Amino acid sequence: MTKKDMIIGVTASIAAYKACELVRILMKKGFNVRCVMTEGAKKFVTTLTFEALSGNKVASEMFPHERATSAEHVSLADSAEIMLVAPATADFIAKAAAGISDDILLCTLVAFRKPVVIAPAMNDGMFMNPIIREKIDYLRKKGYHFVDPVAGELVCGREGMGHLAPVDKIVEKVLEVSG
Ligand SMILES: Cc1cc2nc3c(=O)[nH]c(=O)nc-3n(C[C@H](O)[C@H](O)[C@H](O)COP(=O)(O)O)c2cc1C
Repeated sequence: MTKKDMIIGVTASIAAYKACELVRILMKKGFNVRCVMTEGAKKFVTTLTFEALSGNKVASEMFPHERATSAEHVSLADSAEIMLVAPATADFIAKAAAGISDDILLCTLVAFRKPVVIAPAMNDGMFMNPIIREKIDYLRKKGYHFVDPVAGELVCGREGMGHLAPVDKIVEKVLEVSG
């Protein structure tokens, strides 16, 4: 079976560890996974974890010294059939909706021309914030696919909407969108 290339973007959410499981499952489903992490995501899970799981180098710097001659975001965007961002922070969503590309993940997203699936995870206050709701609606209208978060225990300890959707629901959406 030929493997499909995909990008998994990981942002600085407490749910970042769940992306490890996503990498494992999506590889079993036949994807060759390249992980792209924001600076903040590395505070939650290491690049080493994703490199060991995926067997591929992680992209996490916009200006890596040893590869300064190539535009990695462009080669990443050109190489993959589908991009998943899970978990996606409020910060990432707001910047994505504005076309901001000030890190390697956002830059790859802006350059990406194939289907994108976004799985938000955040505190309920952030998720219900009308600005974030508006950004999500806007991105949906632009053709981005969302896997809505669910109610569950949040980092603050209480129950609320904003918990990352179950991993199997995210995998289901990726398979549906990637055909
Ligand atoms: C312990 C902790 C957990 C956090 N979890 C989330 C989260 O689940 N969702 C979110 O939108 N922001 C969360 N944040 C805030 C983000 O880390 C912060 O907005 C960061 O700038 C996002 O960076 P990024 O979007 O470039 O990855 C958390 C912060 C801390 C300290």
